Amino acid sequence: MAQKITLDDALKLVKNGDHLVAGMAASEGRAFFERLHEVAPIGHVTIDNCLPLKNYPFMVDEAYVNHFTIHSWFFSGDLRKAYTHGNIAYIPNHLHLAGVKRLSHVTPDIYIGNATPPDKHGYVSLSLGNVYEKRMIEAAKTVILEINPNLPRTLGDVEVHVDDIDYLIDVDYPVPELPDLEPNEKDLKIGNHIADLIHDGDTIQLGIGGIPNAVAHALMDKKDLGVHTEMLTTGFMKLYQAGAISNKKKTLHPGKMVAAFALGTKELYDFIDDNPAVMILDGHYVNDPYVIAQNDHQVSINTTLQVDLAGQCASESIGPRQFSGTGGQSDTATGAQKAKGGRSFIALYSTAMVKNESGDRVETSKIVPTLLPGAFVTLSRNDVDHVVTEYGVAELRGTSLSERAERLIAIAHPKFRDELKEEAKRLGYLR
Ligand code: COA
Repeated sequence: MAQKITLDDALKLVKNGDHLVAGMAASEGRAFFERLHEVAPIGHVTIDNCLPLKNYPFMVDEAYVNHFTIHSWFFSGDLRKAYTHGNIAYIPNHLHLAGVKRLSHVTPDIYIGNATPPDKHGYVSLSLGNVYEKRMIEAAKTVILEINPNLPRTLGDVEVHVDDIDYLIDVDYPVPELPDLEPNEKDLKIGNHIADLIHDGDTIQLGIGGIPNAVAHALMDKKDLGVHTEMLTTGFMKLYQAGAISNKKKTLHPGKMVAAFALGTKELYDFIDDNPAVMILDGHYVNDPYVIAQNDHQVSINTTLQVDLAGQCASESIGPRQFSGTGGQSDTATGAQKAKGGRSFIALYSTAMVKNESGDRVETSKIVPTLLPGAFVTLSRNDVDHVVTEYGVAELRGTSLSERAERLIAIAHPKFRDELKEEAKRLGYLR
């Protein structure tokens, strides 16, 4: 039976040399991490995390670099900035295998995450996610959960009995939110291009980032959409409330929205609270391409930082600099394409503003002849399907390098098209 302890006592459980694993994103133990730097005098501690949502001192403050090593499956903005300190390393992964593969290498001394208060049967709900959390809880030598009454009680594969938890800490902070931004003009154009290729009855996945969320706005007039997604966002809730999502036509888990984690607004959290229409299942299952493919007409929609003329997508790094993570991009894109009638979309603005060598911000094409040296390929040229910008859709599935170059140049920003054509000739893709 779990024992209630104070945060002070929980911090005393951390020992020199311990390896901690954190819940992902809003499932992390916020109160614990806000004070973890206080254990620095014990020596050195290692932490595995995934998309941490706050700039915790142990993570970002240079004063603690010798006391904390951080390995991360997905960088957040704060980790990105702290990356230069030399104590932070990215763990290459497909999200559905992140926990499984890490456990072949690491046995967590402590799992630290959050959950709802126990129900009358003694079960807490892991609430906002089970990407890898439940298997880490099962594997960890000590399990500490922050019990937060503000968390929604979700259903699916998120229940853990208090007998399987070592320590509970009572907390009462607001649940971290991701704002639901209004789409801009470019988002709307991209959303409409994709909406033209999405049919009533399709099952959809929307990835992390501004564009996939904006695409939801363009799908409001659809009917009988289904949801099988890694990340459940506010956009899905709005589509459901607008009557665009019914989940009735799904061939896997009909009637249910399936996700591995949720991140959005308070309205989303109220919506998923005790809602049998939403199932939060194990990320190892949800994101397995062979599971995804069991949804007929599965459509995946993700975004990227750079696409080269061969169709390689560098979605997680700018050159060798780790920006975010592979997450479920490859899982969902390949899974969708294996599905009967399935399709995958990589949507991006045609340009980005970047700093040049003199430090001025200049506009650059995100469709490039070759990726920046050292860039990591998130979605390979063999797995890319549709690429979409505000200028249209390039269908790359089954195409040759010359067909790809032509199609991608046609959706690049007009002011970069001539330059791209010249480069495509130089590379031997075009005559
Ligand atoms: N070169 C240099 N900088 C670039 C760039 C490029 N080609 N493309 C974008 N940027 C800059 C932008 O200008 C922006 O800079 P700013 O923060 O100074 O404004 C920054 O990078 C972020 O770009 P943006 O497009 O706004 O990012 P986003 O928050 O929408 O996230 C990804 C986009 C690609 C990073 C994110 O979707 C991702 O990590 N994807 C991989 C994982 C994934 O797809 N998972 C799917 C399953 S959940």
